[in-house]
Amino acid sequence: MAVTMNTVICDLLGIRYPILLAPMAGIPNMASLVSAVSNGGGLGSLGAAYLEPGEIRQIIREIRQQTDAPFAVNLFAQVGPDDLTRLEEVNAGLDGARTALGISAPDRSAVVTPDLFEEQFAAVLEENVPVLSLTFGLLSEQHMERARKAGVKIIATATTVEEAVQAQEAGCHAVTAQGSEAGGHRGTFDTSVQRMGANIGVMALVPQMVDAVDIPVIAAGGIMDGRGLAASLALGAAGVQIGTRFLTSAESGAHPAYKQALLSSTEESTTLTDAFSGRPARGIHNKFIREWDAAGLKPLPFPSQNTLTRAIRSAAAQQDEAGYMALWAGQGTRLLTDGQPAGEIVQQIAAEAQRIWS
Ligand SMILES: Cc1cc2nc3c(=O)[nH]c(=O)nc-3n(C[C@H](O)[C@H](O)[C@H](O)COP(=O)(O)O)c2cc1C
Repeated sequence: MAVTMNTVICDLLGIRYPILLAPMAGIPNMASLVSAVSNGGGLGSLGAAYLEPGEIRQIIREIRQQTDAPFAVNLFAQVGPDDLTRLEEVNAGLDGARTALGISAPDRSAVVTPDLFEEQFAAVLEENVPVLSLTFGLLSEQHMERARKAGVKIIATATTVEEAVQAQEAGCHAVTAQGSEAGGHRGTFDTSVQRMGANIGVMALVPQMVDAVDIPVIAAGGIMDGRGLAASLALGAAGVQIGTRFLTSAESGAHPAYKQALLSSTEESTTLTDAFSGRPARGIHNKFIREWDAAGLKPLPFPSQNTLTRAIRSAAAQQDEAGYMALWAGQGTRLLTDGQPAGEIVQQIAAEAQRIWS
């Protein structure tokens, strides 16, 4: 039986199945994974927030060499300037990790986060990327206007109904409902929300968001298979965005020690932490988080904490030391498969969901 899973999101984005690869900034070699998901009938997404504009252009070309299908690029919106006021205090809380890895604290002058957004945004428009997704905020009116003129579809991330309403009012074409189960950073941008972000589960968030906005809602967080897709559609979502399930796929560029940690984790393994970046994110609890929490410090605000801890994460990757990596993961990791091709995962999820529906 042919699998048909057509929803409004398929028509909007020009895809066969309502399955989006989550953008995953920081994961290397994303071109193969993005194109495999797009070739499989979903929408591949490149997490480009940490990439130089030239790298973004290069990876977009690599993706286009491997697929003719649509794909998305994702950027971080509304990131503030560096704030290094408490650098010495925070550095002291990171010394244990540095000693364990044999590296020293960077000079203050090395802890500078370049503001790449304008050039990244221009690269996305100039390369005629069909879909731009955003997290941490919304585009300014001026950027929205430029995106509209270029014909780019815009998807925002919302962690509350209020944020989704703002995304609709700003003219976004669709909104991702990021539940608290989700791996990686919380997309929360409403500044009235507490330090660890809005953490509403997908089951509660999706139907409330669907009732409040007219644009399509995409469910994200802990969705791993056709049961998750079918459930999301039942809640009124037009599709799903999936990250963690693809981290252990054949095309994933995630570090082998990270993949191992994912495959041996359970629904109890993750925690929300702002230790790595200054913004709350869900990842597997490890030595870095334990030592940071024991120090009892508040991190520098994003993006400074992220820039400050980058050398620790790089040294950990070089030394295969998962204890000091950021092991971003959602809560569904018992459902991971090891080394399965990403296109097959997309088609399997669609087929499983269709079986449930019929
Ligand atoms: C390793 C990793 C990196 C992520 N990076 C981004 C990102 O750059 N931009 C973004 O919008 N979301 C990012 N996310 C969050 C995803 O968009 C999505 O909300 C999440 O993966 C869904 O939950 P799941 O991982 O349980 O499927 C990331 C998630 C992971 C696991």
